[in-house]
Amino acid sequence: MREESIQGKTAFITGASSGIGKAVAEQFAMHKANVVITGRRIERLEAFAKELEQKYKVKALPIQLDVTNSVEVQQVIEKLPMQVDFLINNAGLALSTDKIQDGSIKNWEMMIDTNVKGLLYVTRAILPSMVKRNQGYIINIGSIAGHETYVGGNIYSATKHAVIAISNSLRQDLLGTMIRVSTISPGAVETEFSHVRFNDKEKAKQLYKGFQPLVADDIADTVLYCATRPAHVNVAEMIVFPQAQASARDIYREGQEVVSPFGKK
Ligand SMILES: NC(=O)c1ccc[n+]([C@@H]2O[C@H](COP(=O)([O-])OP(=O)(O)OC[C@H]3O[C@@H](n4cnc5c(N)ncnc54)[C@H](OP(=O)(O)O)[C@@H]3O)[C@@H](O)[C@H]2O)c1
Repeated sequence: MREESIQGKTAFITGASSGIGKAVAEQFAMHKANVVITGRRIERLEAFAKELEQKYKVKALPIQLDVTNSVEVQQVIEKLPMQVDFLINNAGLALSTDKIQDGSIKNWEMMIDTNVKGLLYVTRAILPSMVKRNQGYIINIGSIAGHETYVGGNIYSATKHAVIAISNSLRQDLLGTMIRVSTISPGAVETEFSHVRFNDKEKAKQLYKGFQPLVADDIADTVLYCATRPAHVNVAEMIVFPQAQASARDIYREGQEVVSPFGKK
């Protein structure tokens, strides 16, 4: 099958200061795409942009952008000096594993504002120019938590269910155009995600003990795979687990007994 080249095209990536977004930016740059790398931590993005430009001889534009601020999103995108060919909606976070009865409304709002509203603000700002040119590709980073729930996953899971619903709706609303929309739904990936969730480095480290989690590059590979399919192919969704994971709740850790939820035989 012929792969489409992304060379010379531009990818706009949210949350490119760490983890999956950073790995996606690197893989796009490696394949000679220009990248707009955004996030709140501008110092990281500036250093990363320099590194990408030196290593891969592409344009890398670092922009400070908090996706929860709809006005800022609109202004940043209006001022962009180039057209966006690929939008990678990756910025996102989970905060705590509190049960709903103990939950922090502030945390809930932050997750909803970032994972759902932020994704919508950026999409709303970029999509009209894609529609006008009748070309473009939106890749949303969902999660296995967008298909399943688990104890303490509640609001994060709700936001990722919303990401999948938005992606599916986008494909419907864009019928008749050449624009494609994919969702990548990862299982456990070792990034800064769990530090942010628990605000505790040691606890985050423990989570990945006893099995080999995915790394950010594994997910970047899948994003690149989608982006390089021929124009008539739209990968709707990919669910990607580490080999040791079977569902949001089932991760096999070395030495552990595999027990049915209904108890031992
Ligand atoms: N790691 C996993 O196991 C896993 C599994 C399934 C899905 N995911 C999803 O993958 C995506 C990336 O997460 P990751 O694992 O790479 O975690 P990460 O290393 O913590 O990266 C999260 C990125 O999101 C950015 N971000 C957070 N809030 C933002 C805001 N308000 N505005 C702009 N950027 C913001 C962060 O940048 P700044 O802090 O600089 O703003 C950072 O670059 C998320 O959507 C997450 O839900 C992760």
